[in-house]
Amino acid sequence: MERILIIGAAGQLGSELTLALSQQYGGDHVIATDINPKALEKFDFCKTAVLDIMNQDAVRQLVKTENVKQVYHLAAVLSATGEKNPLFAWQLNMDSLLFVLELAKEFKMEKIYWPSSIAVFGPNTPKVNTPQYCVKEPNTVYGISKQAGERWCEYYFQKFGVDVRSLRYPGLIGYKSLPGGGTTDYAVDIYHKAIAGEHFVSFLRADSALPMMYMPDAIKATMDLMHAPREQVKIRSSYNLAAISFTPREIFESIKVHYPDFSISYEPDFRQAIADSWPDSIDDSSARADWGWKHDYDLKKMTADILANLPEYMVNF
Ligand SMILES: NC(=O)c1ccc[n+]([C@@H]2O[C@H](COP(=O)([O-])OP(=O)(O)OC[C@H]3O[C@@H](n4cnc5c(N)ncnc54)[C@H](O)[C@@H]3O)[C@@H](O)[C@H]2O)c1
Repeated sequence: MERILIIGAAGQLGSELTLALSQQYGGDHVIATDINPKALEKFDFCKTAVLDIMNQDAVRQLVKTENVKQVYHLAAVLSATGEKNPLFAWQLNMDSLLFVLELAKEFKMEKIYWPSSIAVFGPNTPKVNTPQYCVKEPNTVYGISKQAGERWCEYYFQKFGVDVRSLRYPGLIGYKSLPGGGTTDYAVDIYHKAIAGEHFVSFLRADSALPMMYMPDAIKATMDLMHAPREQVKIRSSYNLAAISFTPREIFESIKVHYPDFSISYEPDFRQAIADSWPDSIDDSSARADWGWKHDYDLKKMTADILANLPEYMVNF
């Protein structure tokens, strides 16, 4: 039986992507792996294995014995956490990607998915409607590793024919799991505070606009890209991807419609400098033209959906 391997499956993105892939292909065909054994317990609908992507022998063995034909490589150190231990972030993010690309070549895999990020952009990038192709001088180790990763993806496609596909996600907002140390985490935490009836302190300024996306849209984009015929995937570094763009004040206002007593204050910390180096909004016309990308959720619709569903999930956190 051919299988799909998800590495770093128990995180914010993987938790929802693993479910979507299991629904699509059947749980028997999906192996959710993560370094964190406890976090794997939620996957009772597919195969699971504890796996450290840095343990190359163990990964190679699993790929061989399980006949892995597709890999979704999601394990990474994210932007805010990366700044606390830059060399570790570089090592994990780069070594693991190069290893997965080598495995894809060696085992002639069908497809690889690896996410990039708006963190590839930097302070000298045009901030509004940031184009697909433009100056990129990222100044976080996370952004540098994503930029280098994109170059390696394109290289493996061009030189070795590895069918690797990638999206530059904006900040992802979901209610089914907690975020993993990124600069856009505030946009998840704020809903938790509103529902708990607590005051929210934003670590970004009131007017700090960033590109964001509701998780169902991110899952849809990922599945659509991976299902697109090979020739339609014309960009092999990573596609710009966009949905909504908002500030802490705007998301607060959207929640206040539902929770009129909710309050906010602003205490920017080191993450403000990271946010300031990223775009305000993204031009994703290539994704829309090449494989038909279209988002479903705006800020109002996302807020209503999260506030309706999050309370049920909060008991699990
Ligand atoms: N969440 C976002 O807003 C966002 C935005 C842009 C790009 N991305 C990218 O999407 C991917 C997934 O992000 P996420 O938000 O789900 O991250 P996350 O931190 O929530 O999850 C990462 C998972 O990887 C696991 N992991 C860490 N080290 C590992 C190792 N050595 N071996 C195996 N597993 C390991 C962690 O236990 C965790 O479950 C990353 O590549 C990230 O850069 C995320």
